[in-house]
Amino acid sequence: MVQRVRKAVLPVAGLGTRFLPATKVIPKEMIPVIDKPVVQYAIEEARAAGIEEFIFVSAYGKESITQHFSPAPGLERQLEEKGKTAELALVRGATLSTIHTVIQENPLGLGHAVWCAWPLVGDEPFAVILPDDMVLSQTPCLKQLIEAHAKVGGHVVAVEDVPREQTNRYGILDVLSDDGKLAKAKGLVEKPAPETAPSTLAIIGRYVLDPIVFGELDKKTKGAGGEIQLTDGLNRTIDRVPFHGLRFEGRRYDCGTHVGFVEANLAFGLARPEMAAKLRPLVKNLLEMK
Ligand code: UTP
Repeated sequence: MVQRVRKAVLPVAGLGTRFLPATKVIPKEMIPVIDKPVVQYAIEEARAAGIEEFIFVSAYGKESITQHFSPAPGLERQLEEKGKTAELALVRGATLSTIHTVIQENPLGLGHAVWCAWPLVGDEPFAVILPDDMVLSQTPCLKQLIEAHAKVGGHVVAVEDVPREQTNRYGILDVLSDDGKLAKAKGLVEKPAPETAPSTLAIIGRYVLDPIVFGELDKKTKGAGGEIQLTDGLNRTIDRVPFHGLRFEGRRYDCGTHVGFVEANLAFGLARPEMAAKLRPLVKNLLEMK
């Protein structure tokens, strides 16, 4: 029987250089999309998928991320005294009791960040969420992965078809078989050039992984860009555990880029009924402006 996924690892130790100067002081993950920090959407998605323990792989100077999920007794008392019950619920809704932090001292790559969580994950399947990738969907993206994992086990990651000229930005699947929803991979390549990419099925920031990957990441082998890549570690386990890519239902927004971030604000705003009616004509006007 496939073991239940209870823990999620959130690598948030990156430098966020593409969002300087905003990220000079504020961690990238704390920049809000509308009124919530990007990382809170990730936590809410994980909770809705049944995750019980949250492991942040963070860096010095990014303490505000975990602080955001701690109780705020002073603020809570003031809101209570003022009878601001809706606001109080928002503050309390952002509190997590089962949070662990491990520090990645140097940003050596995503594979290394995930490896840092090994002692806290132990020997059970676990989720990895990259908060930068935000997904709007009917069923939370991670829940879709966990449901697929319960059937096929091994590693199950979220994938989407990308334009061939973009394969050099992603981990790409070398597909063995594909039923249109689940693609089984016989290999993985990190950031292949468009001419050599084995497919255009790209891994996005949601994973359910077998702990076997930790042993491979422990070898600290460097890959593309001189970084310890998660994709490479997973690729080296592919003859021992099945690897599936799930074409999830929903739409992904890459908040790691400027355009993706603006797009996410618009999409998440339009998905909120109280904002949509006002936002729609504004967007239309902007597009018509000369
Ligand atoms: P990115 O490369 O997209 O994030 O890594 P970054 O490095 O923060 O951003 P830029 O490129 O400088 O603008 C994907 C995810 O992996 C984490 C990042 O925090 C992000 O969530 N990461 C990456 C780590 O935690 N450690 C690393 O060594 C590398």
